[in-house]
Amino acid sequence: MKKILITGALGQIGSELMVALQKRHGFDNVVATDIRKPPQVDGIFEVLDCTCSHRLHETVIKHDIGTIYHLAALLSAVAEARPQDAWRVNMDGTLHVLEAARIHGCSVFTPSSIGAFGPTTPADNTPQDTIQRPTSMYGVTKVAGELLCDYYARRYGVDTRGLRYPGIISNVTPPGGGTTDYAVDIYYSAVQQGKYTCFLRKDTFLDMMYMPDAIEAAINLMEADASKLKHRNAFNVSAMSFAPEHIATEIKKHLPGFTMDYQIDPVRQGIADSWPNHMDDSAAREEWGWSPKYDLVSMTADMISVLKNRFGK
Ligand code: NAD
Ligand code: SER
Repeated sequence: MKKILITGALGQIGSELMVALQKRHGFDNVVATDIRKPPQVDGIFEVLDCTCSHRLHETVIKHDIGTIYHLAALLSAVAEARPQDAWRVNMDGTLHVLEAARIHGCSVFTPSSIGAFGPTTPADNTPQDTIQRPTSMYGVTKVAGELLCDYYARRYGVDTRGLRYPGIISNVTPPGGGTTDYAVDIYYSAVQQGKYTCFLRKDTFLDMMYMPDAIEAAINLMEADASKLKHRNAFNVSAMSFAPEHIATEIKKHLPGFTMDYQIDPVRQGIADSWPNHMDDSAAREEWGWSPKYDLVSMTADMISVLKNRFGK
């Protein structure tokens, strides 16, 4: 088989997607890449800056790549602190990946985000096709990335596919600087210290998803029958929607002494306020059978059990 290349493979999602794809297709068929060099990686690894077009082409040719999962990006909080870098990494990176795919005949998975929506988007049951006028640099790059992927599919016939991921919660690799990171940090702090200071207001609703569902969504979409996909890129996908006060209540069921206070970060609160409360993901359910396994209750039970074991609590 032609091999699979992952960009940004050392990040929160990439580090778990890499293992899932290795299990499915074999160690020798997955090429993990990142701008950083890992201390140790099981399988094939190459240092690759996705903004470097010739290295990208070289790597695709060298490993006979047929599919690219393009995960390298700067996330919302980092992008807001370094907007020009975010444009360069998120946009140049995506353009170079699409060009490599066009020239070498690869299919491409690119994650978009709830960040692709903005304050004028309907916040409840956010439709699949709706107003997208994001106000963060992250969001600007995510909408532009969605459109670029659509363009390459329509103009050049490149098999591009993508999801609008919500906040992803996981326990392997820490998140890389997003607005939804609180929903990961809270579990680590709850288990290790019994308390957490939240940077978002207690009533800030956002869509979320547990990592096993996020990984399965990406793989299932890439393996879906292309003739059934009307939207192709940027499917809304959600598994749950909650606010900080709800996740705290759920954690207390496992750790009754847990306490939470608030120290609002105006930048991340502003970003969160511009994002949907809850997306309608019926297009993903209808077109390729999206169906998440975890909700807030089952995810919290699993997160706490895994972290308690890890930290000997
Ligand atoms: P992350 O920040 O954890 O990881 C990103 C990885 O990209 C890092 O390992 C980093 O070293 C690498 N990277 C940065 N610049 C690079 C460059 N120039 N070339 C190559 N690699 C580079 O991010 P993540 O959470 O794993 O997100 C992956 C993708 O999913 C991103 O496109 C992100 O926007 C999207 N997404 C993530 C979430 C989430 O909650 N994690 C939600 C929605 C969308
Ligand atoms: N988790 C991501 C972020 O907050 C959403 O795309 O940036």
